[in-house]
Amino acid sequence: MRVCVIGTGYVGLVTGVCLAHVGHHVICVDNNEEKVKLMKLGQSPIFEPGLSELMQSSTSSGCLEFSTDIGYGVETADILFIAVGTPSLPTGESDTRYVEAVAKGIGSHLVKGYKVIVNKSTVPIGSGDWVRLLVLDGIAERKKSSLENLDVNFDIVSNPEFLREGSAIYDTFNPDRIVIGSNSSKAIEMMQELYQPIIERKYSENSQLAAVPVVLTDLNSAEMIKYAANAFLATKISFINEVANICDRVGADVTQVAQGIGLDSRIGSKFLQAGIGWGGSCFAKDVSALIHTANDYGYDSELLKSAVSINHRQRLIVIEKLQYELKILKGKIIGILGLTFKPDTDDMRDAPALNIIEQLNRLGAKLKAYDPIVSQSGLSHAITGVTIESDAQRLADGCDALVLVTDWQEFLKLDYADMAKSMNQPLIIDGRNFLDPKKLESAGFRYVGVGR
Ligand code: NAD
Ligand code: UGA
Repeated sequence: MRVCVIGTGYVGLVTGVCLAHVGHHVICVDNNEEKVKLMKLGQSPIFEPGLSELMQSSTSSGCLEFSTDIGYGVETADILFIAVGTPSLPTGESDTRYVEAVAKGIGSHLVKGYKVIVNKSTVPIGSGDWVRLLVLDGIAERKKSSLENLDVNFDIVSNPEFLREGSAIYDTFNPDRIVIGSNSSKAIEMMQELYQPIIERKYSENSQLAAVPVVLTDLNSAEMIKYAANAFLATKISFINEVANICDRVGADVTQVAQGIGLDSRIGSKFLQAGIGWGGSCFAKDVSALIHTANDYGYDSELLKSAVSINHRQRLIVIEKLQYELKILKGKIIGILGLTFKPDTDDMRDAPALNIIEQLNRLGAKLKAYDPIVSQSGLSHAITGVTIESDAQRLADGCDALVLVTDWQEFLKLDYADMAKSMNQPLIIDGRNFLDPKKLESAGFRYVGVGR
């Protein structure tokens, strides 16, 4: 099938590359010329494991191309994905201006034939119908100013994305479900054909598994599924963090508690890792957007508001622990292990490290940091108030404490005994409960976790 993906960020580029890999012809469109230039050279503008390799193989097989020209993509493809960002406005509601620009752009380039327009971006409930109107406006404008006979027909689909950064390729080929929201049977049929290789698990790690469930819904329900999924996951993490804070007070170990409750199949073991809370580009903005939508309809979402406020407080829990251990932080040298919001990504959007750095700077601590990606990329220039070190050993040198903020696998294998020797005080605050306390203690550290 011929596909156009508009917006080549973490979602759009992965979607485009994976659909090309399964044999569709994909045009990835972005209005950022620098990004498109880079992608045409075979380089991924983002760090996502496995993405560059897949991108290069699909480009050389002729299935994948890049362009800044939305008109070319709209005219060529049958299925048009909108995958632009929907960040938060200061009010908490979703900023849909990029979706609006793309929908208008599609409308003003539709010429003839039938197209399926797919909202892949996470958008407020009701956006499917809104996009339909914007596209119709674009067509009407074109009709006014053109003598061409426009014979255009299209349907809207909501196809929310559930991939996680850092395992985006795996998640795309091994989804738990595919949600398709539309009132058009023709559009649904085309979407099912598009995803058929993935539904049949042809590219899955375990091709013996049953077919991927496809959830067919109306537009509004598909949009709500995306918000509800992220709100649930964010609330689940805030729940375990609440339990961790109680564990800290009563002398229980939240990692054992999480294991004990997670084995109950009604609860499930995933997303029960306590620590400094959730970050990233989506949980905060999507939970805020849902709270905002509820408010618009006169409903005060107390549960979701609590999930957000627990998460705010949780980020600063390492400061409380540092103050308890070191008393005065002014002039103390603190080493931050990990900066990105989670491992295996270069994404710093809403990273807890940023709040921790800001607060420690305010308290007069001297900060150093090491992150496997940030230390080696241009990203370090964007992070102020902290000296970026090139490795963990240099980071430890002269520190009064280390704070583990991101659970990068390589942090499991560091030579902690050597690091402890070069520190002023061998103290480690493990903000992700990621390290083995016994190993750290035998390496000479005083180990402090969250709720353990
Ligand atoms: P992003 O910011 O990484 O990428 C957005 C891209 O859109 C950028 O490359 C930008 O240049 C491009 N763009 C903006 N306006 C454009 C226009 N008019 N024409 C062409 N290109 C344009 O965003 P993202 O993280 O990929 O998120 C995209 C959407 O997917 C959001 O709604 C987000 O909530 C949702 N989502 C994200 C994730 C994730 O893991 N990041 C997962 C699921 C859903
Ligand atoms: C999340 C969802 O998991 C995806 O399904 C969704 O598509 C995506 O948001 C989105 O809409 O953008 P992502 O933000 O990439 O994916 O990463 P997660 O693995 O969900 O982690 C989010 C944050 O929660 C990270 O900061 C992580 O460290 C934290 N986390 C996660 C915990 O603190 N504890 C856990 O048990 C799990």
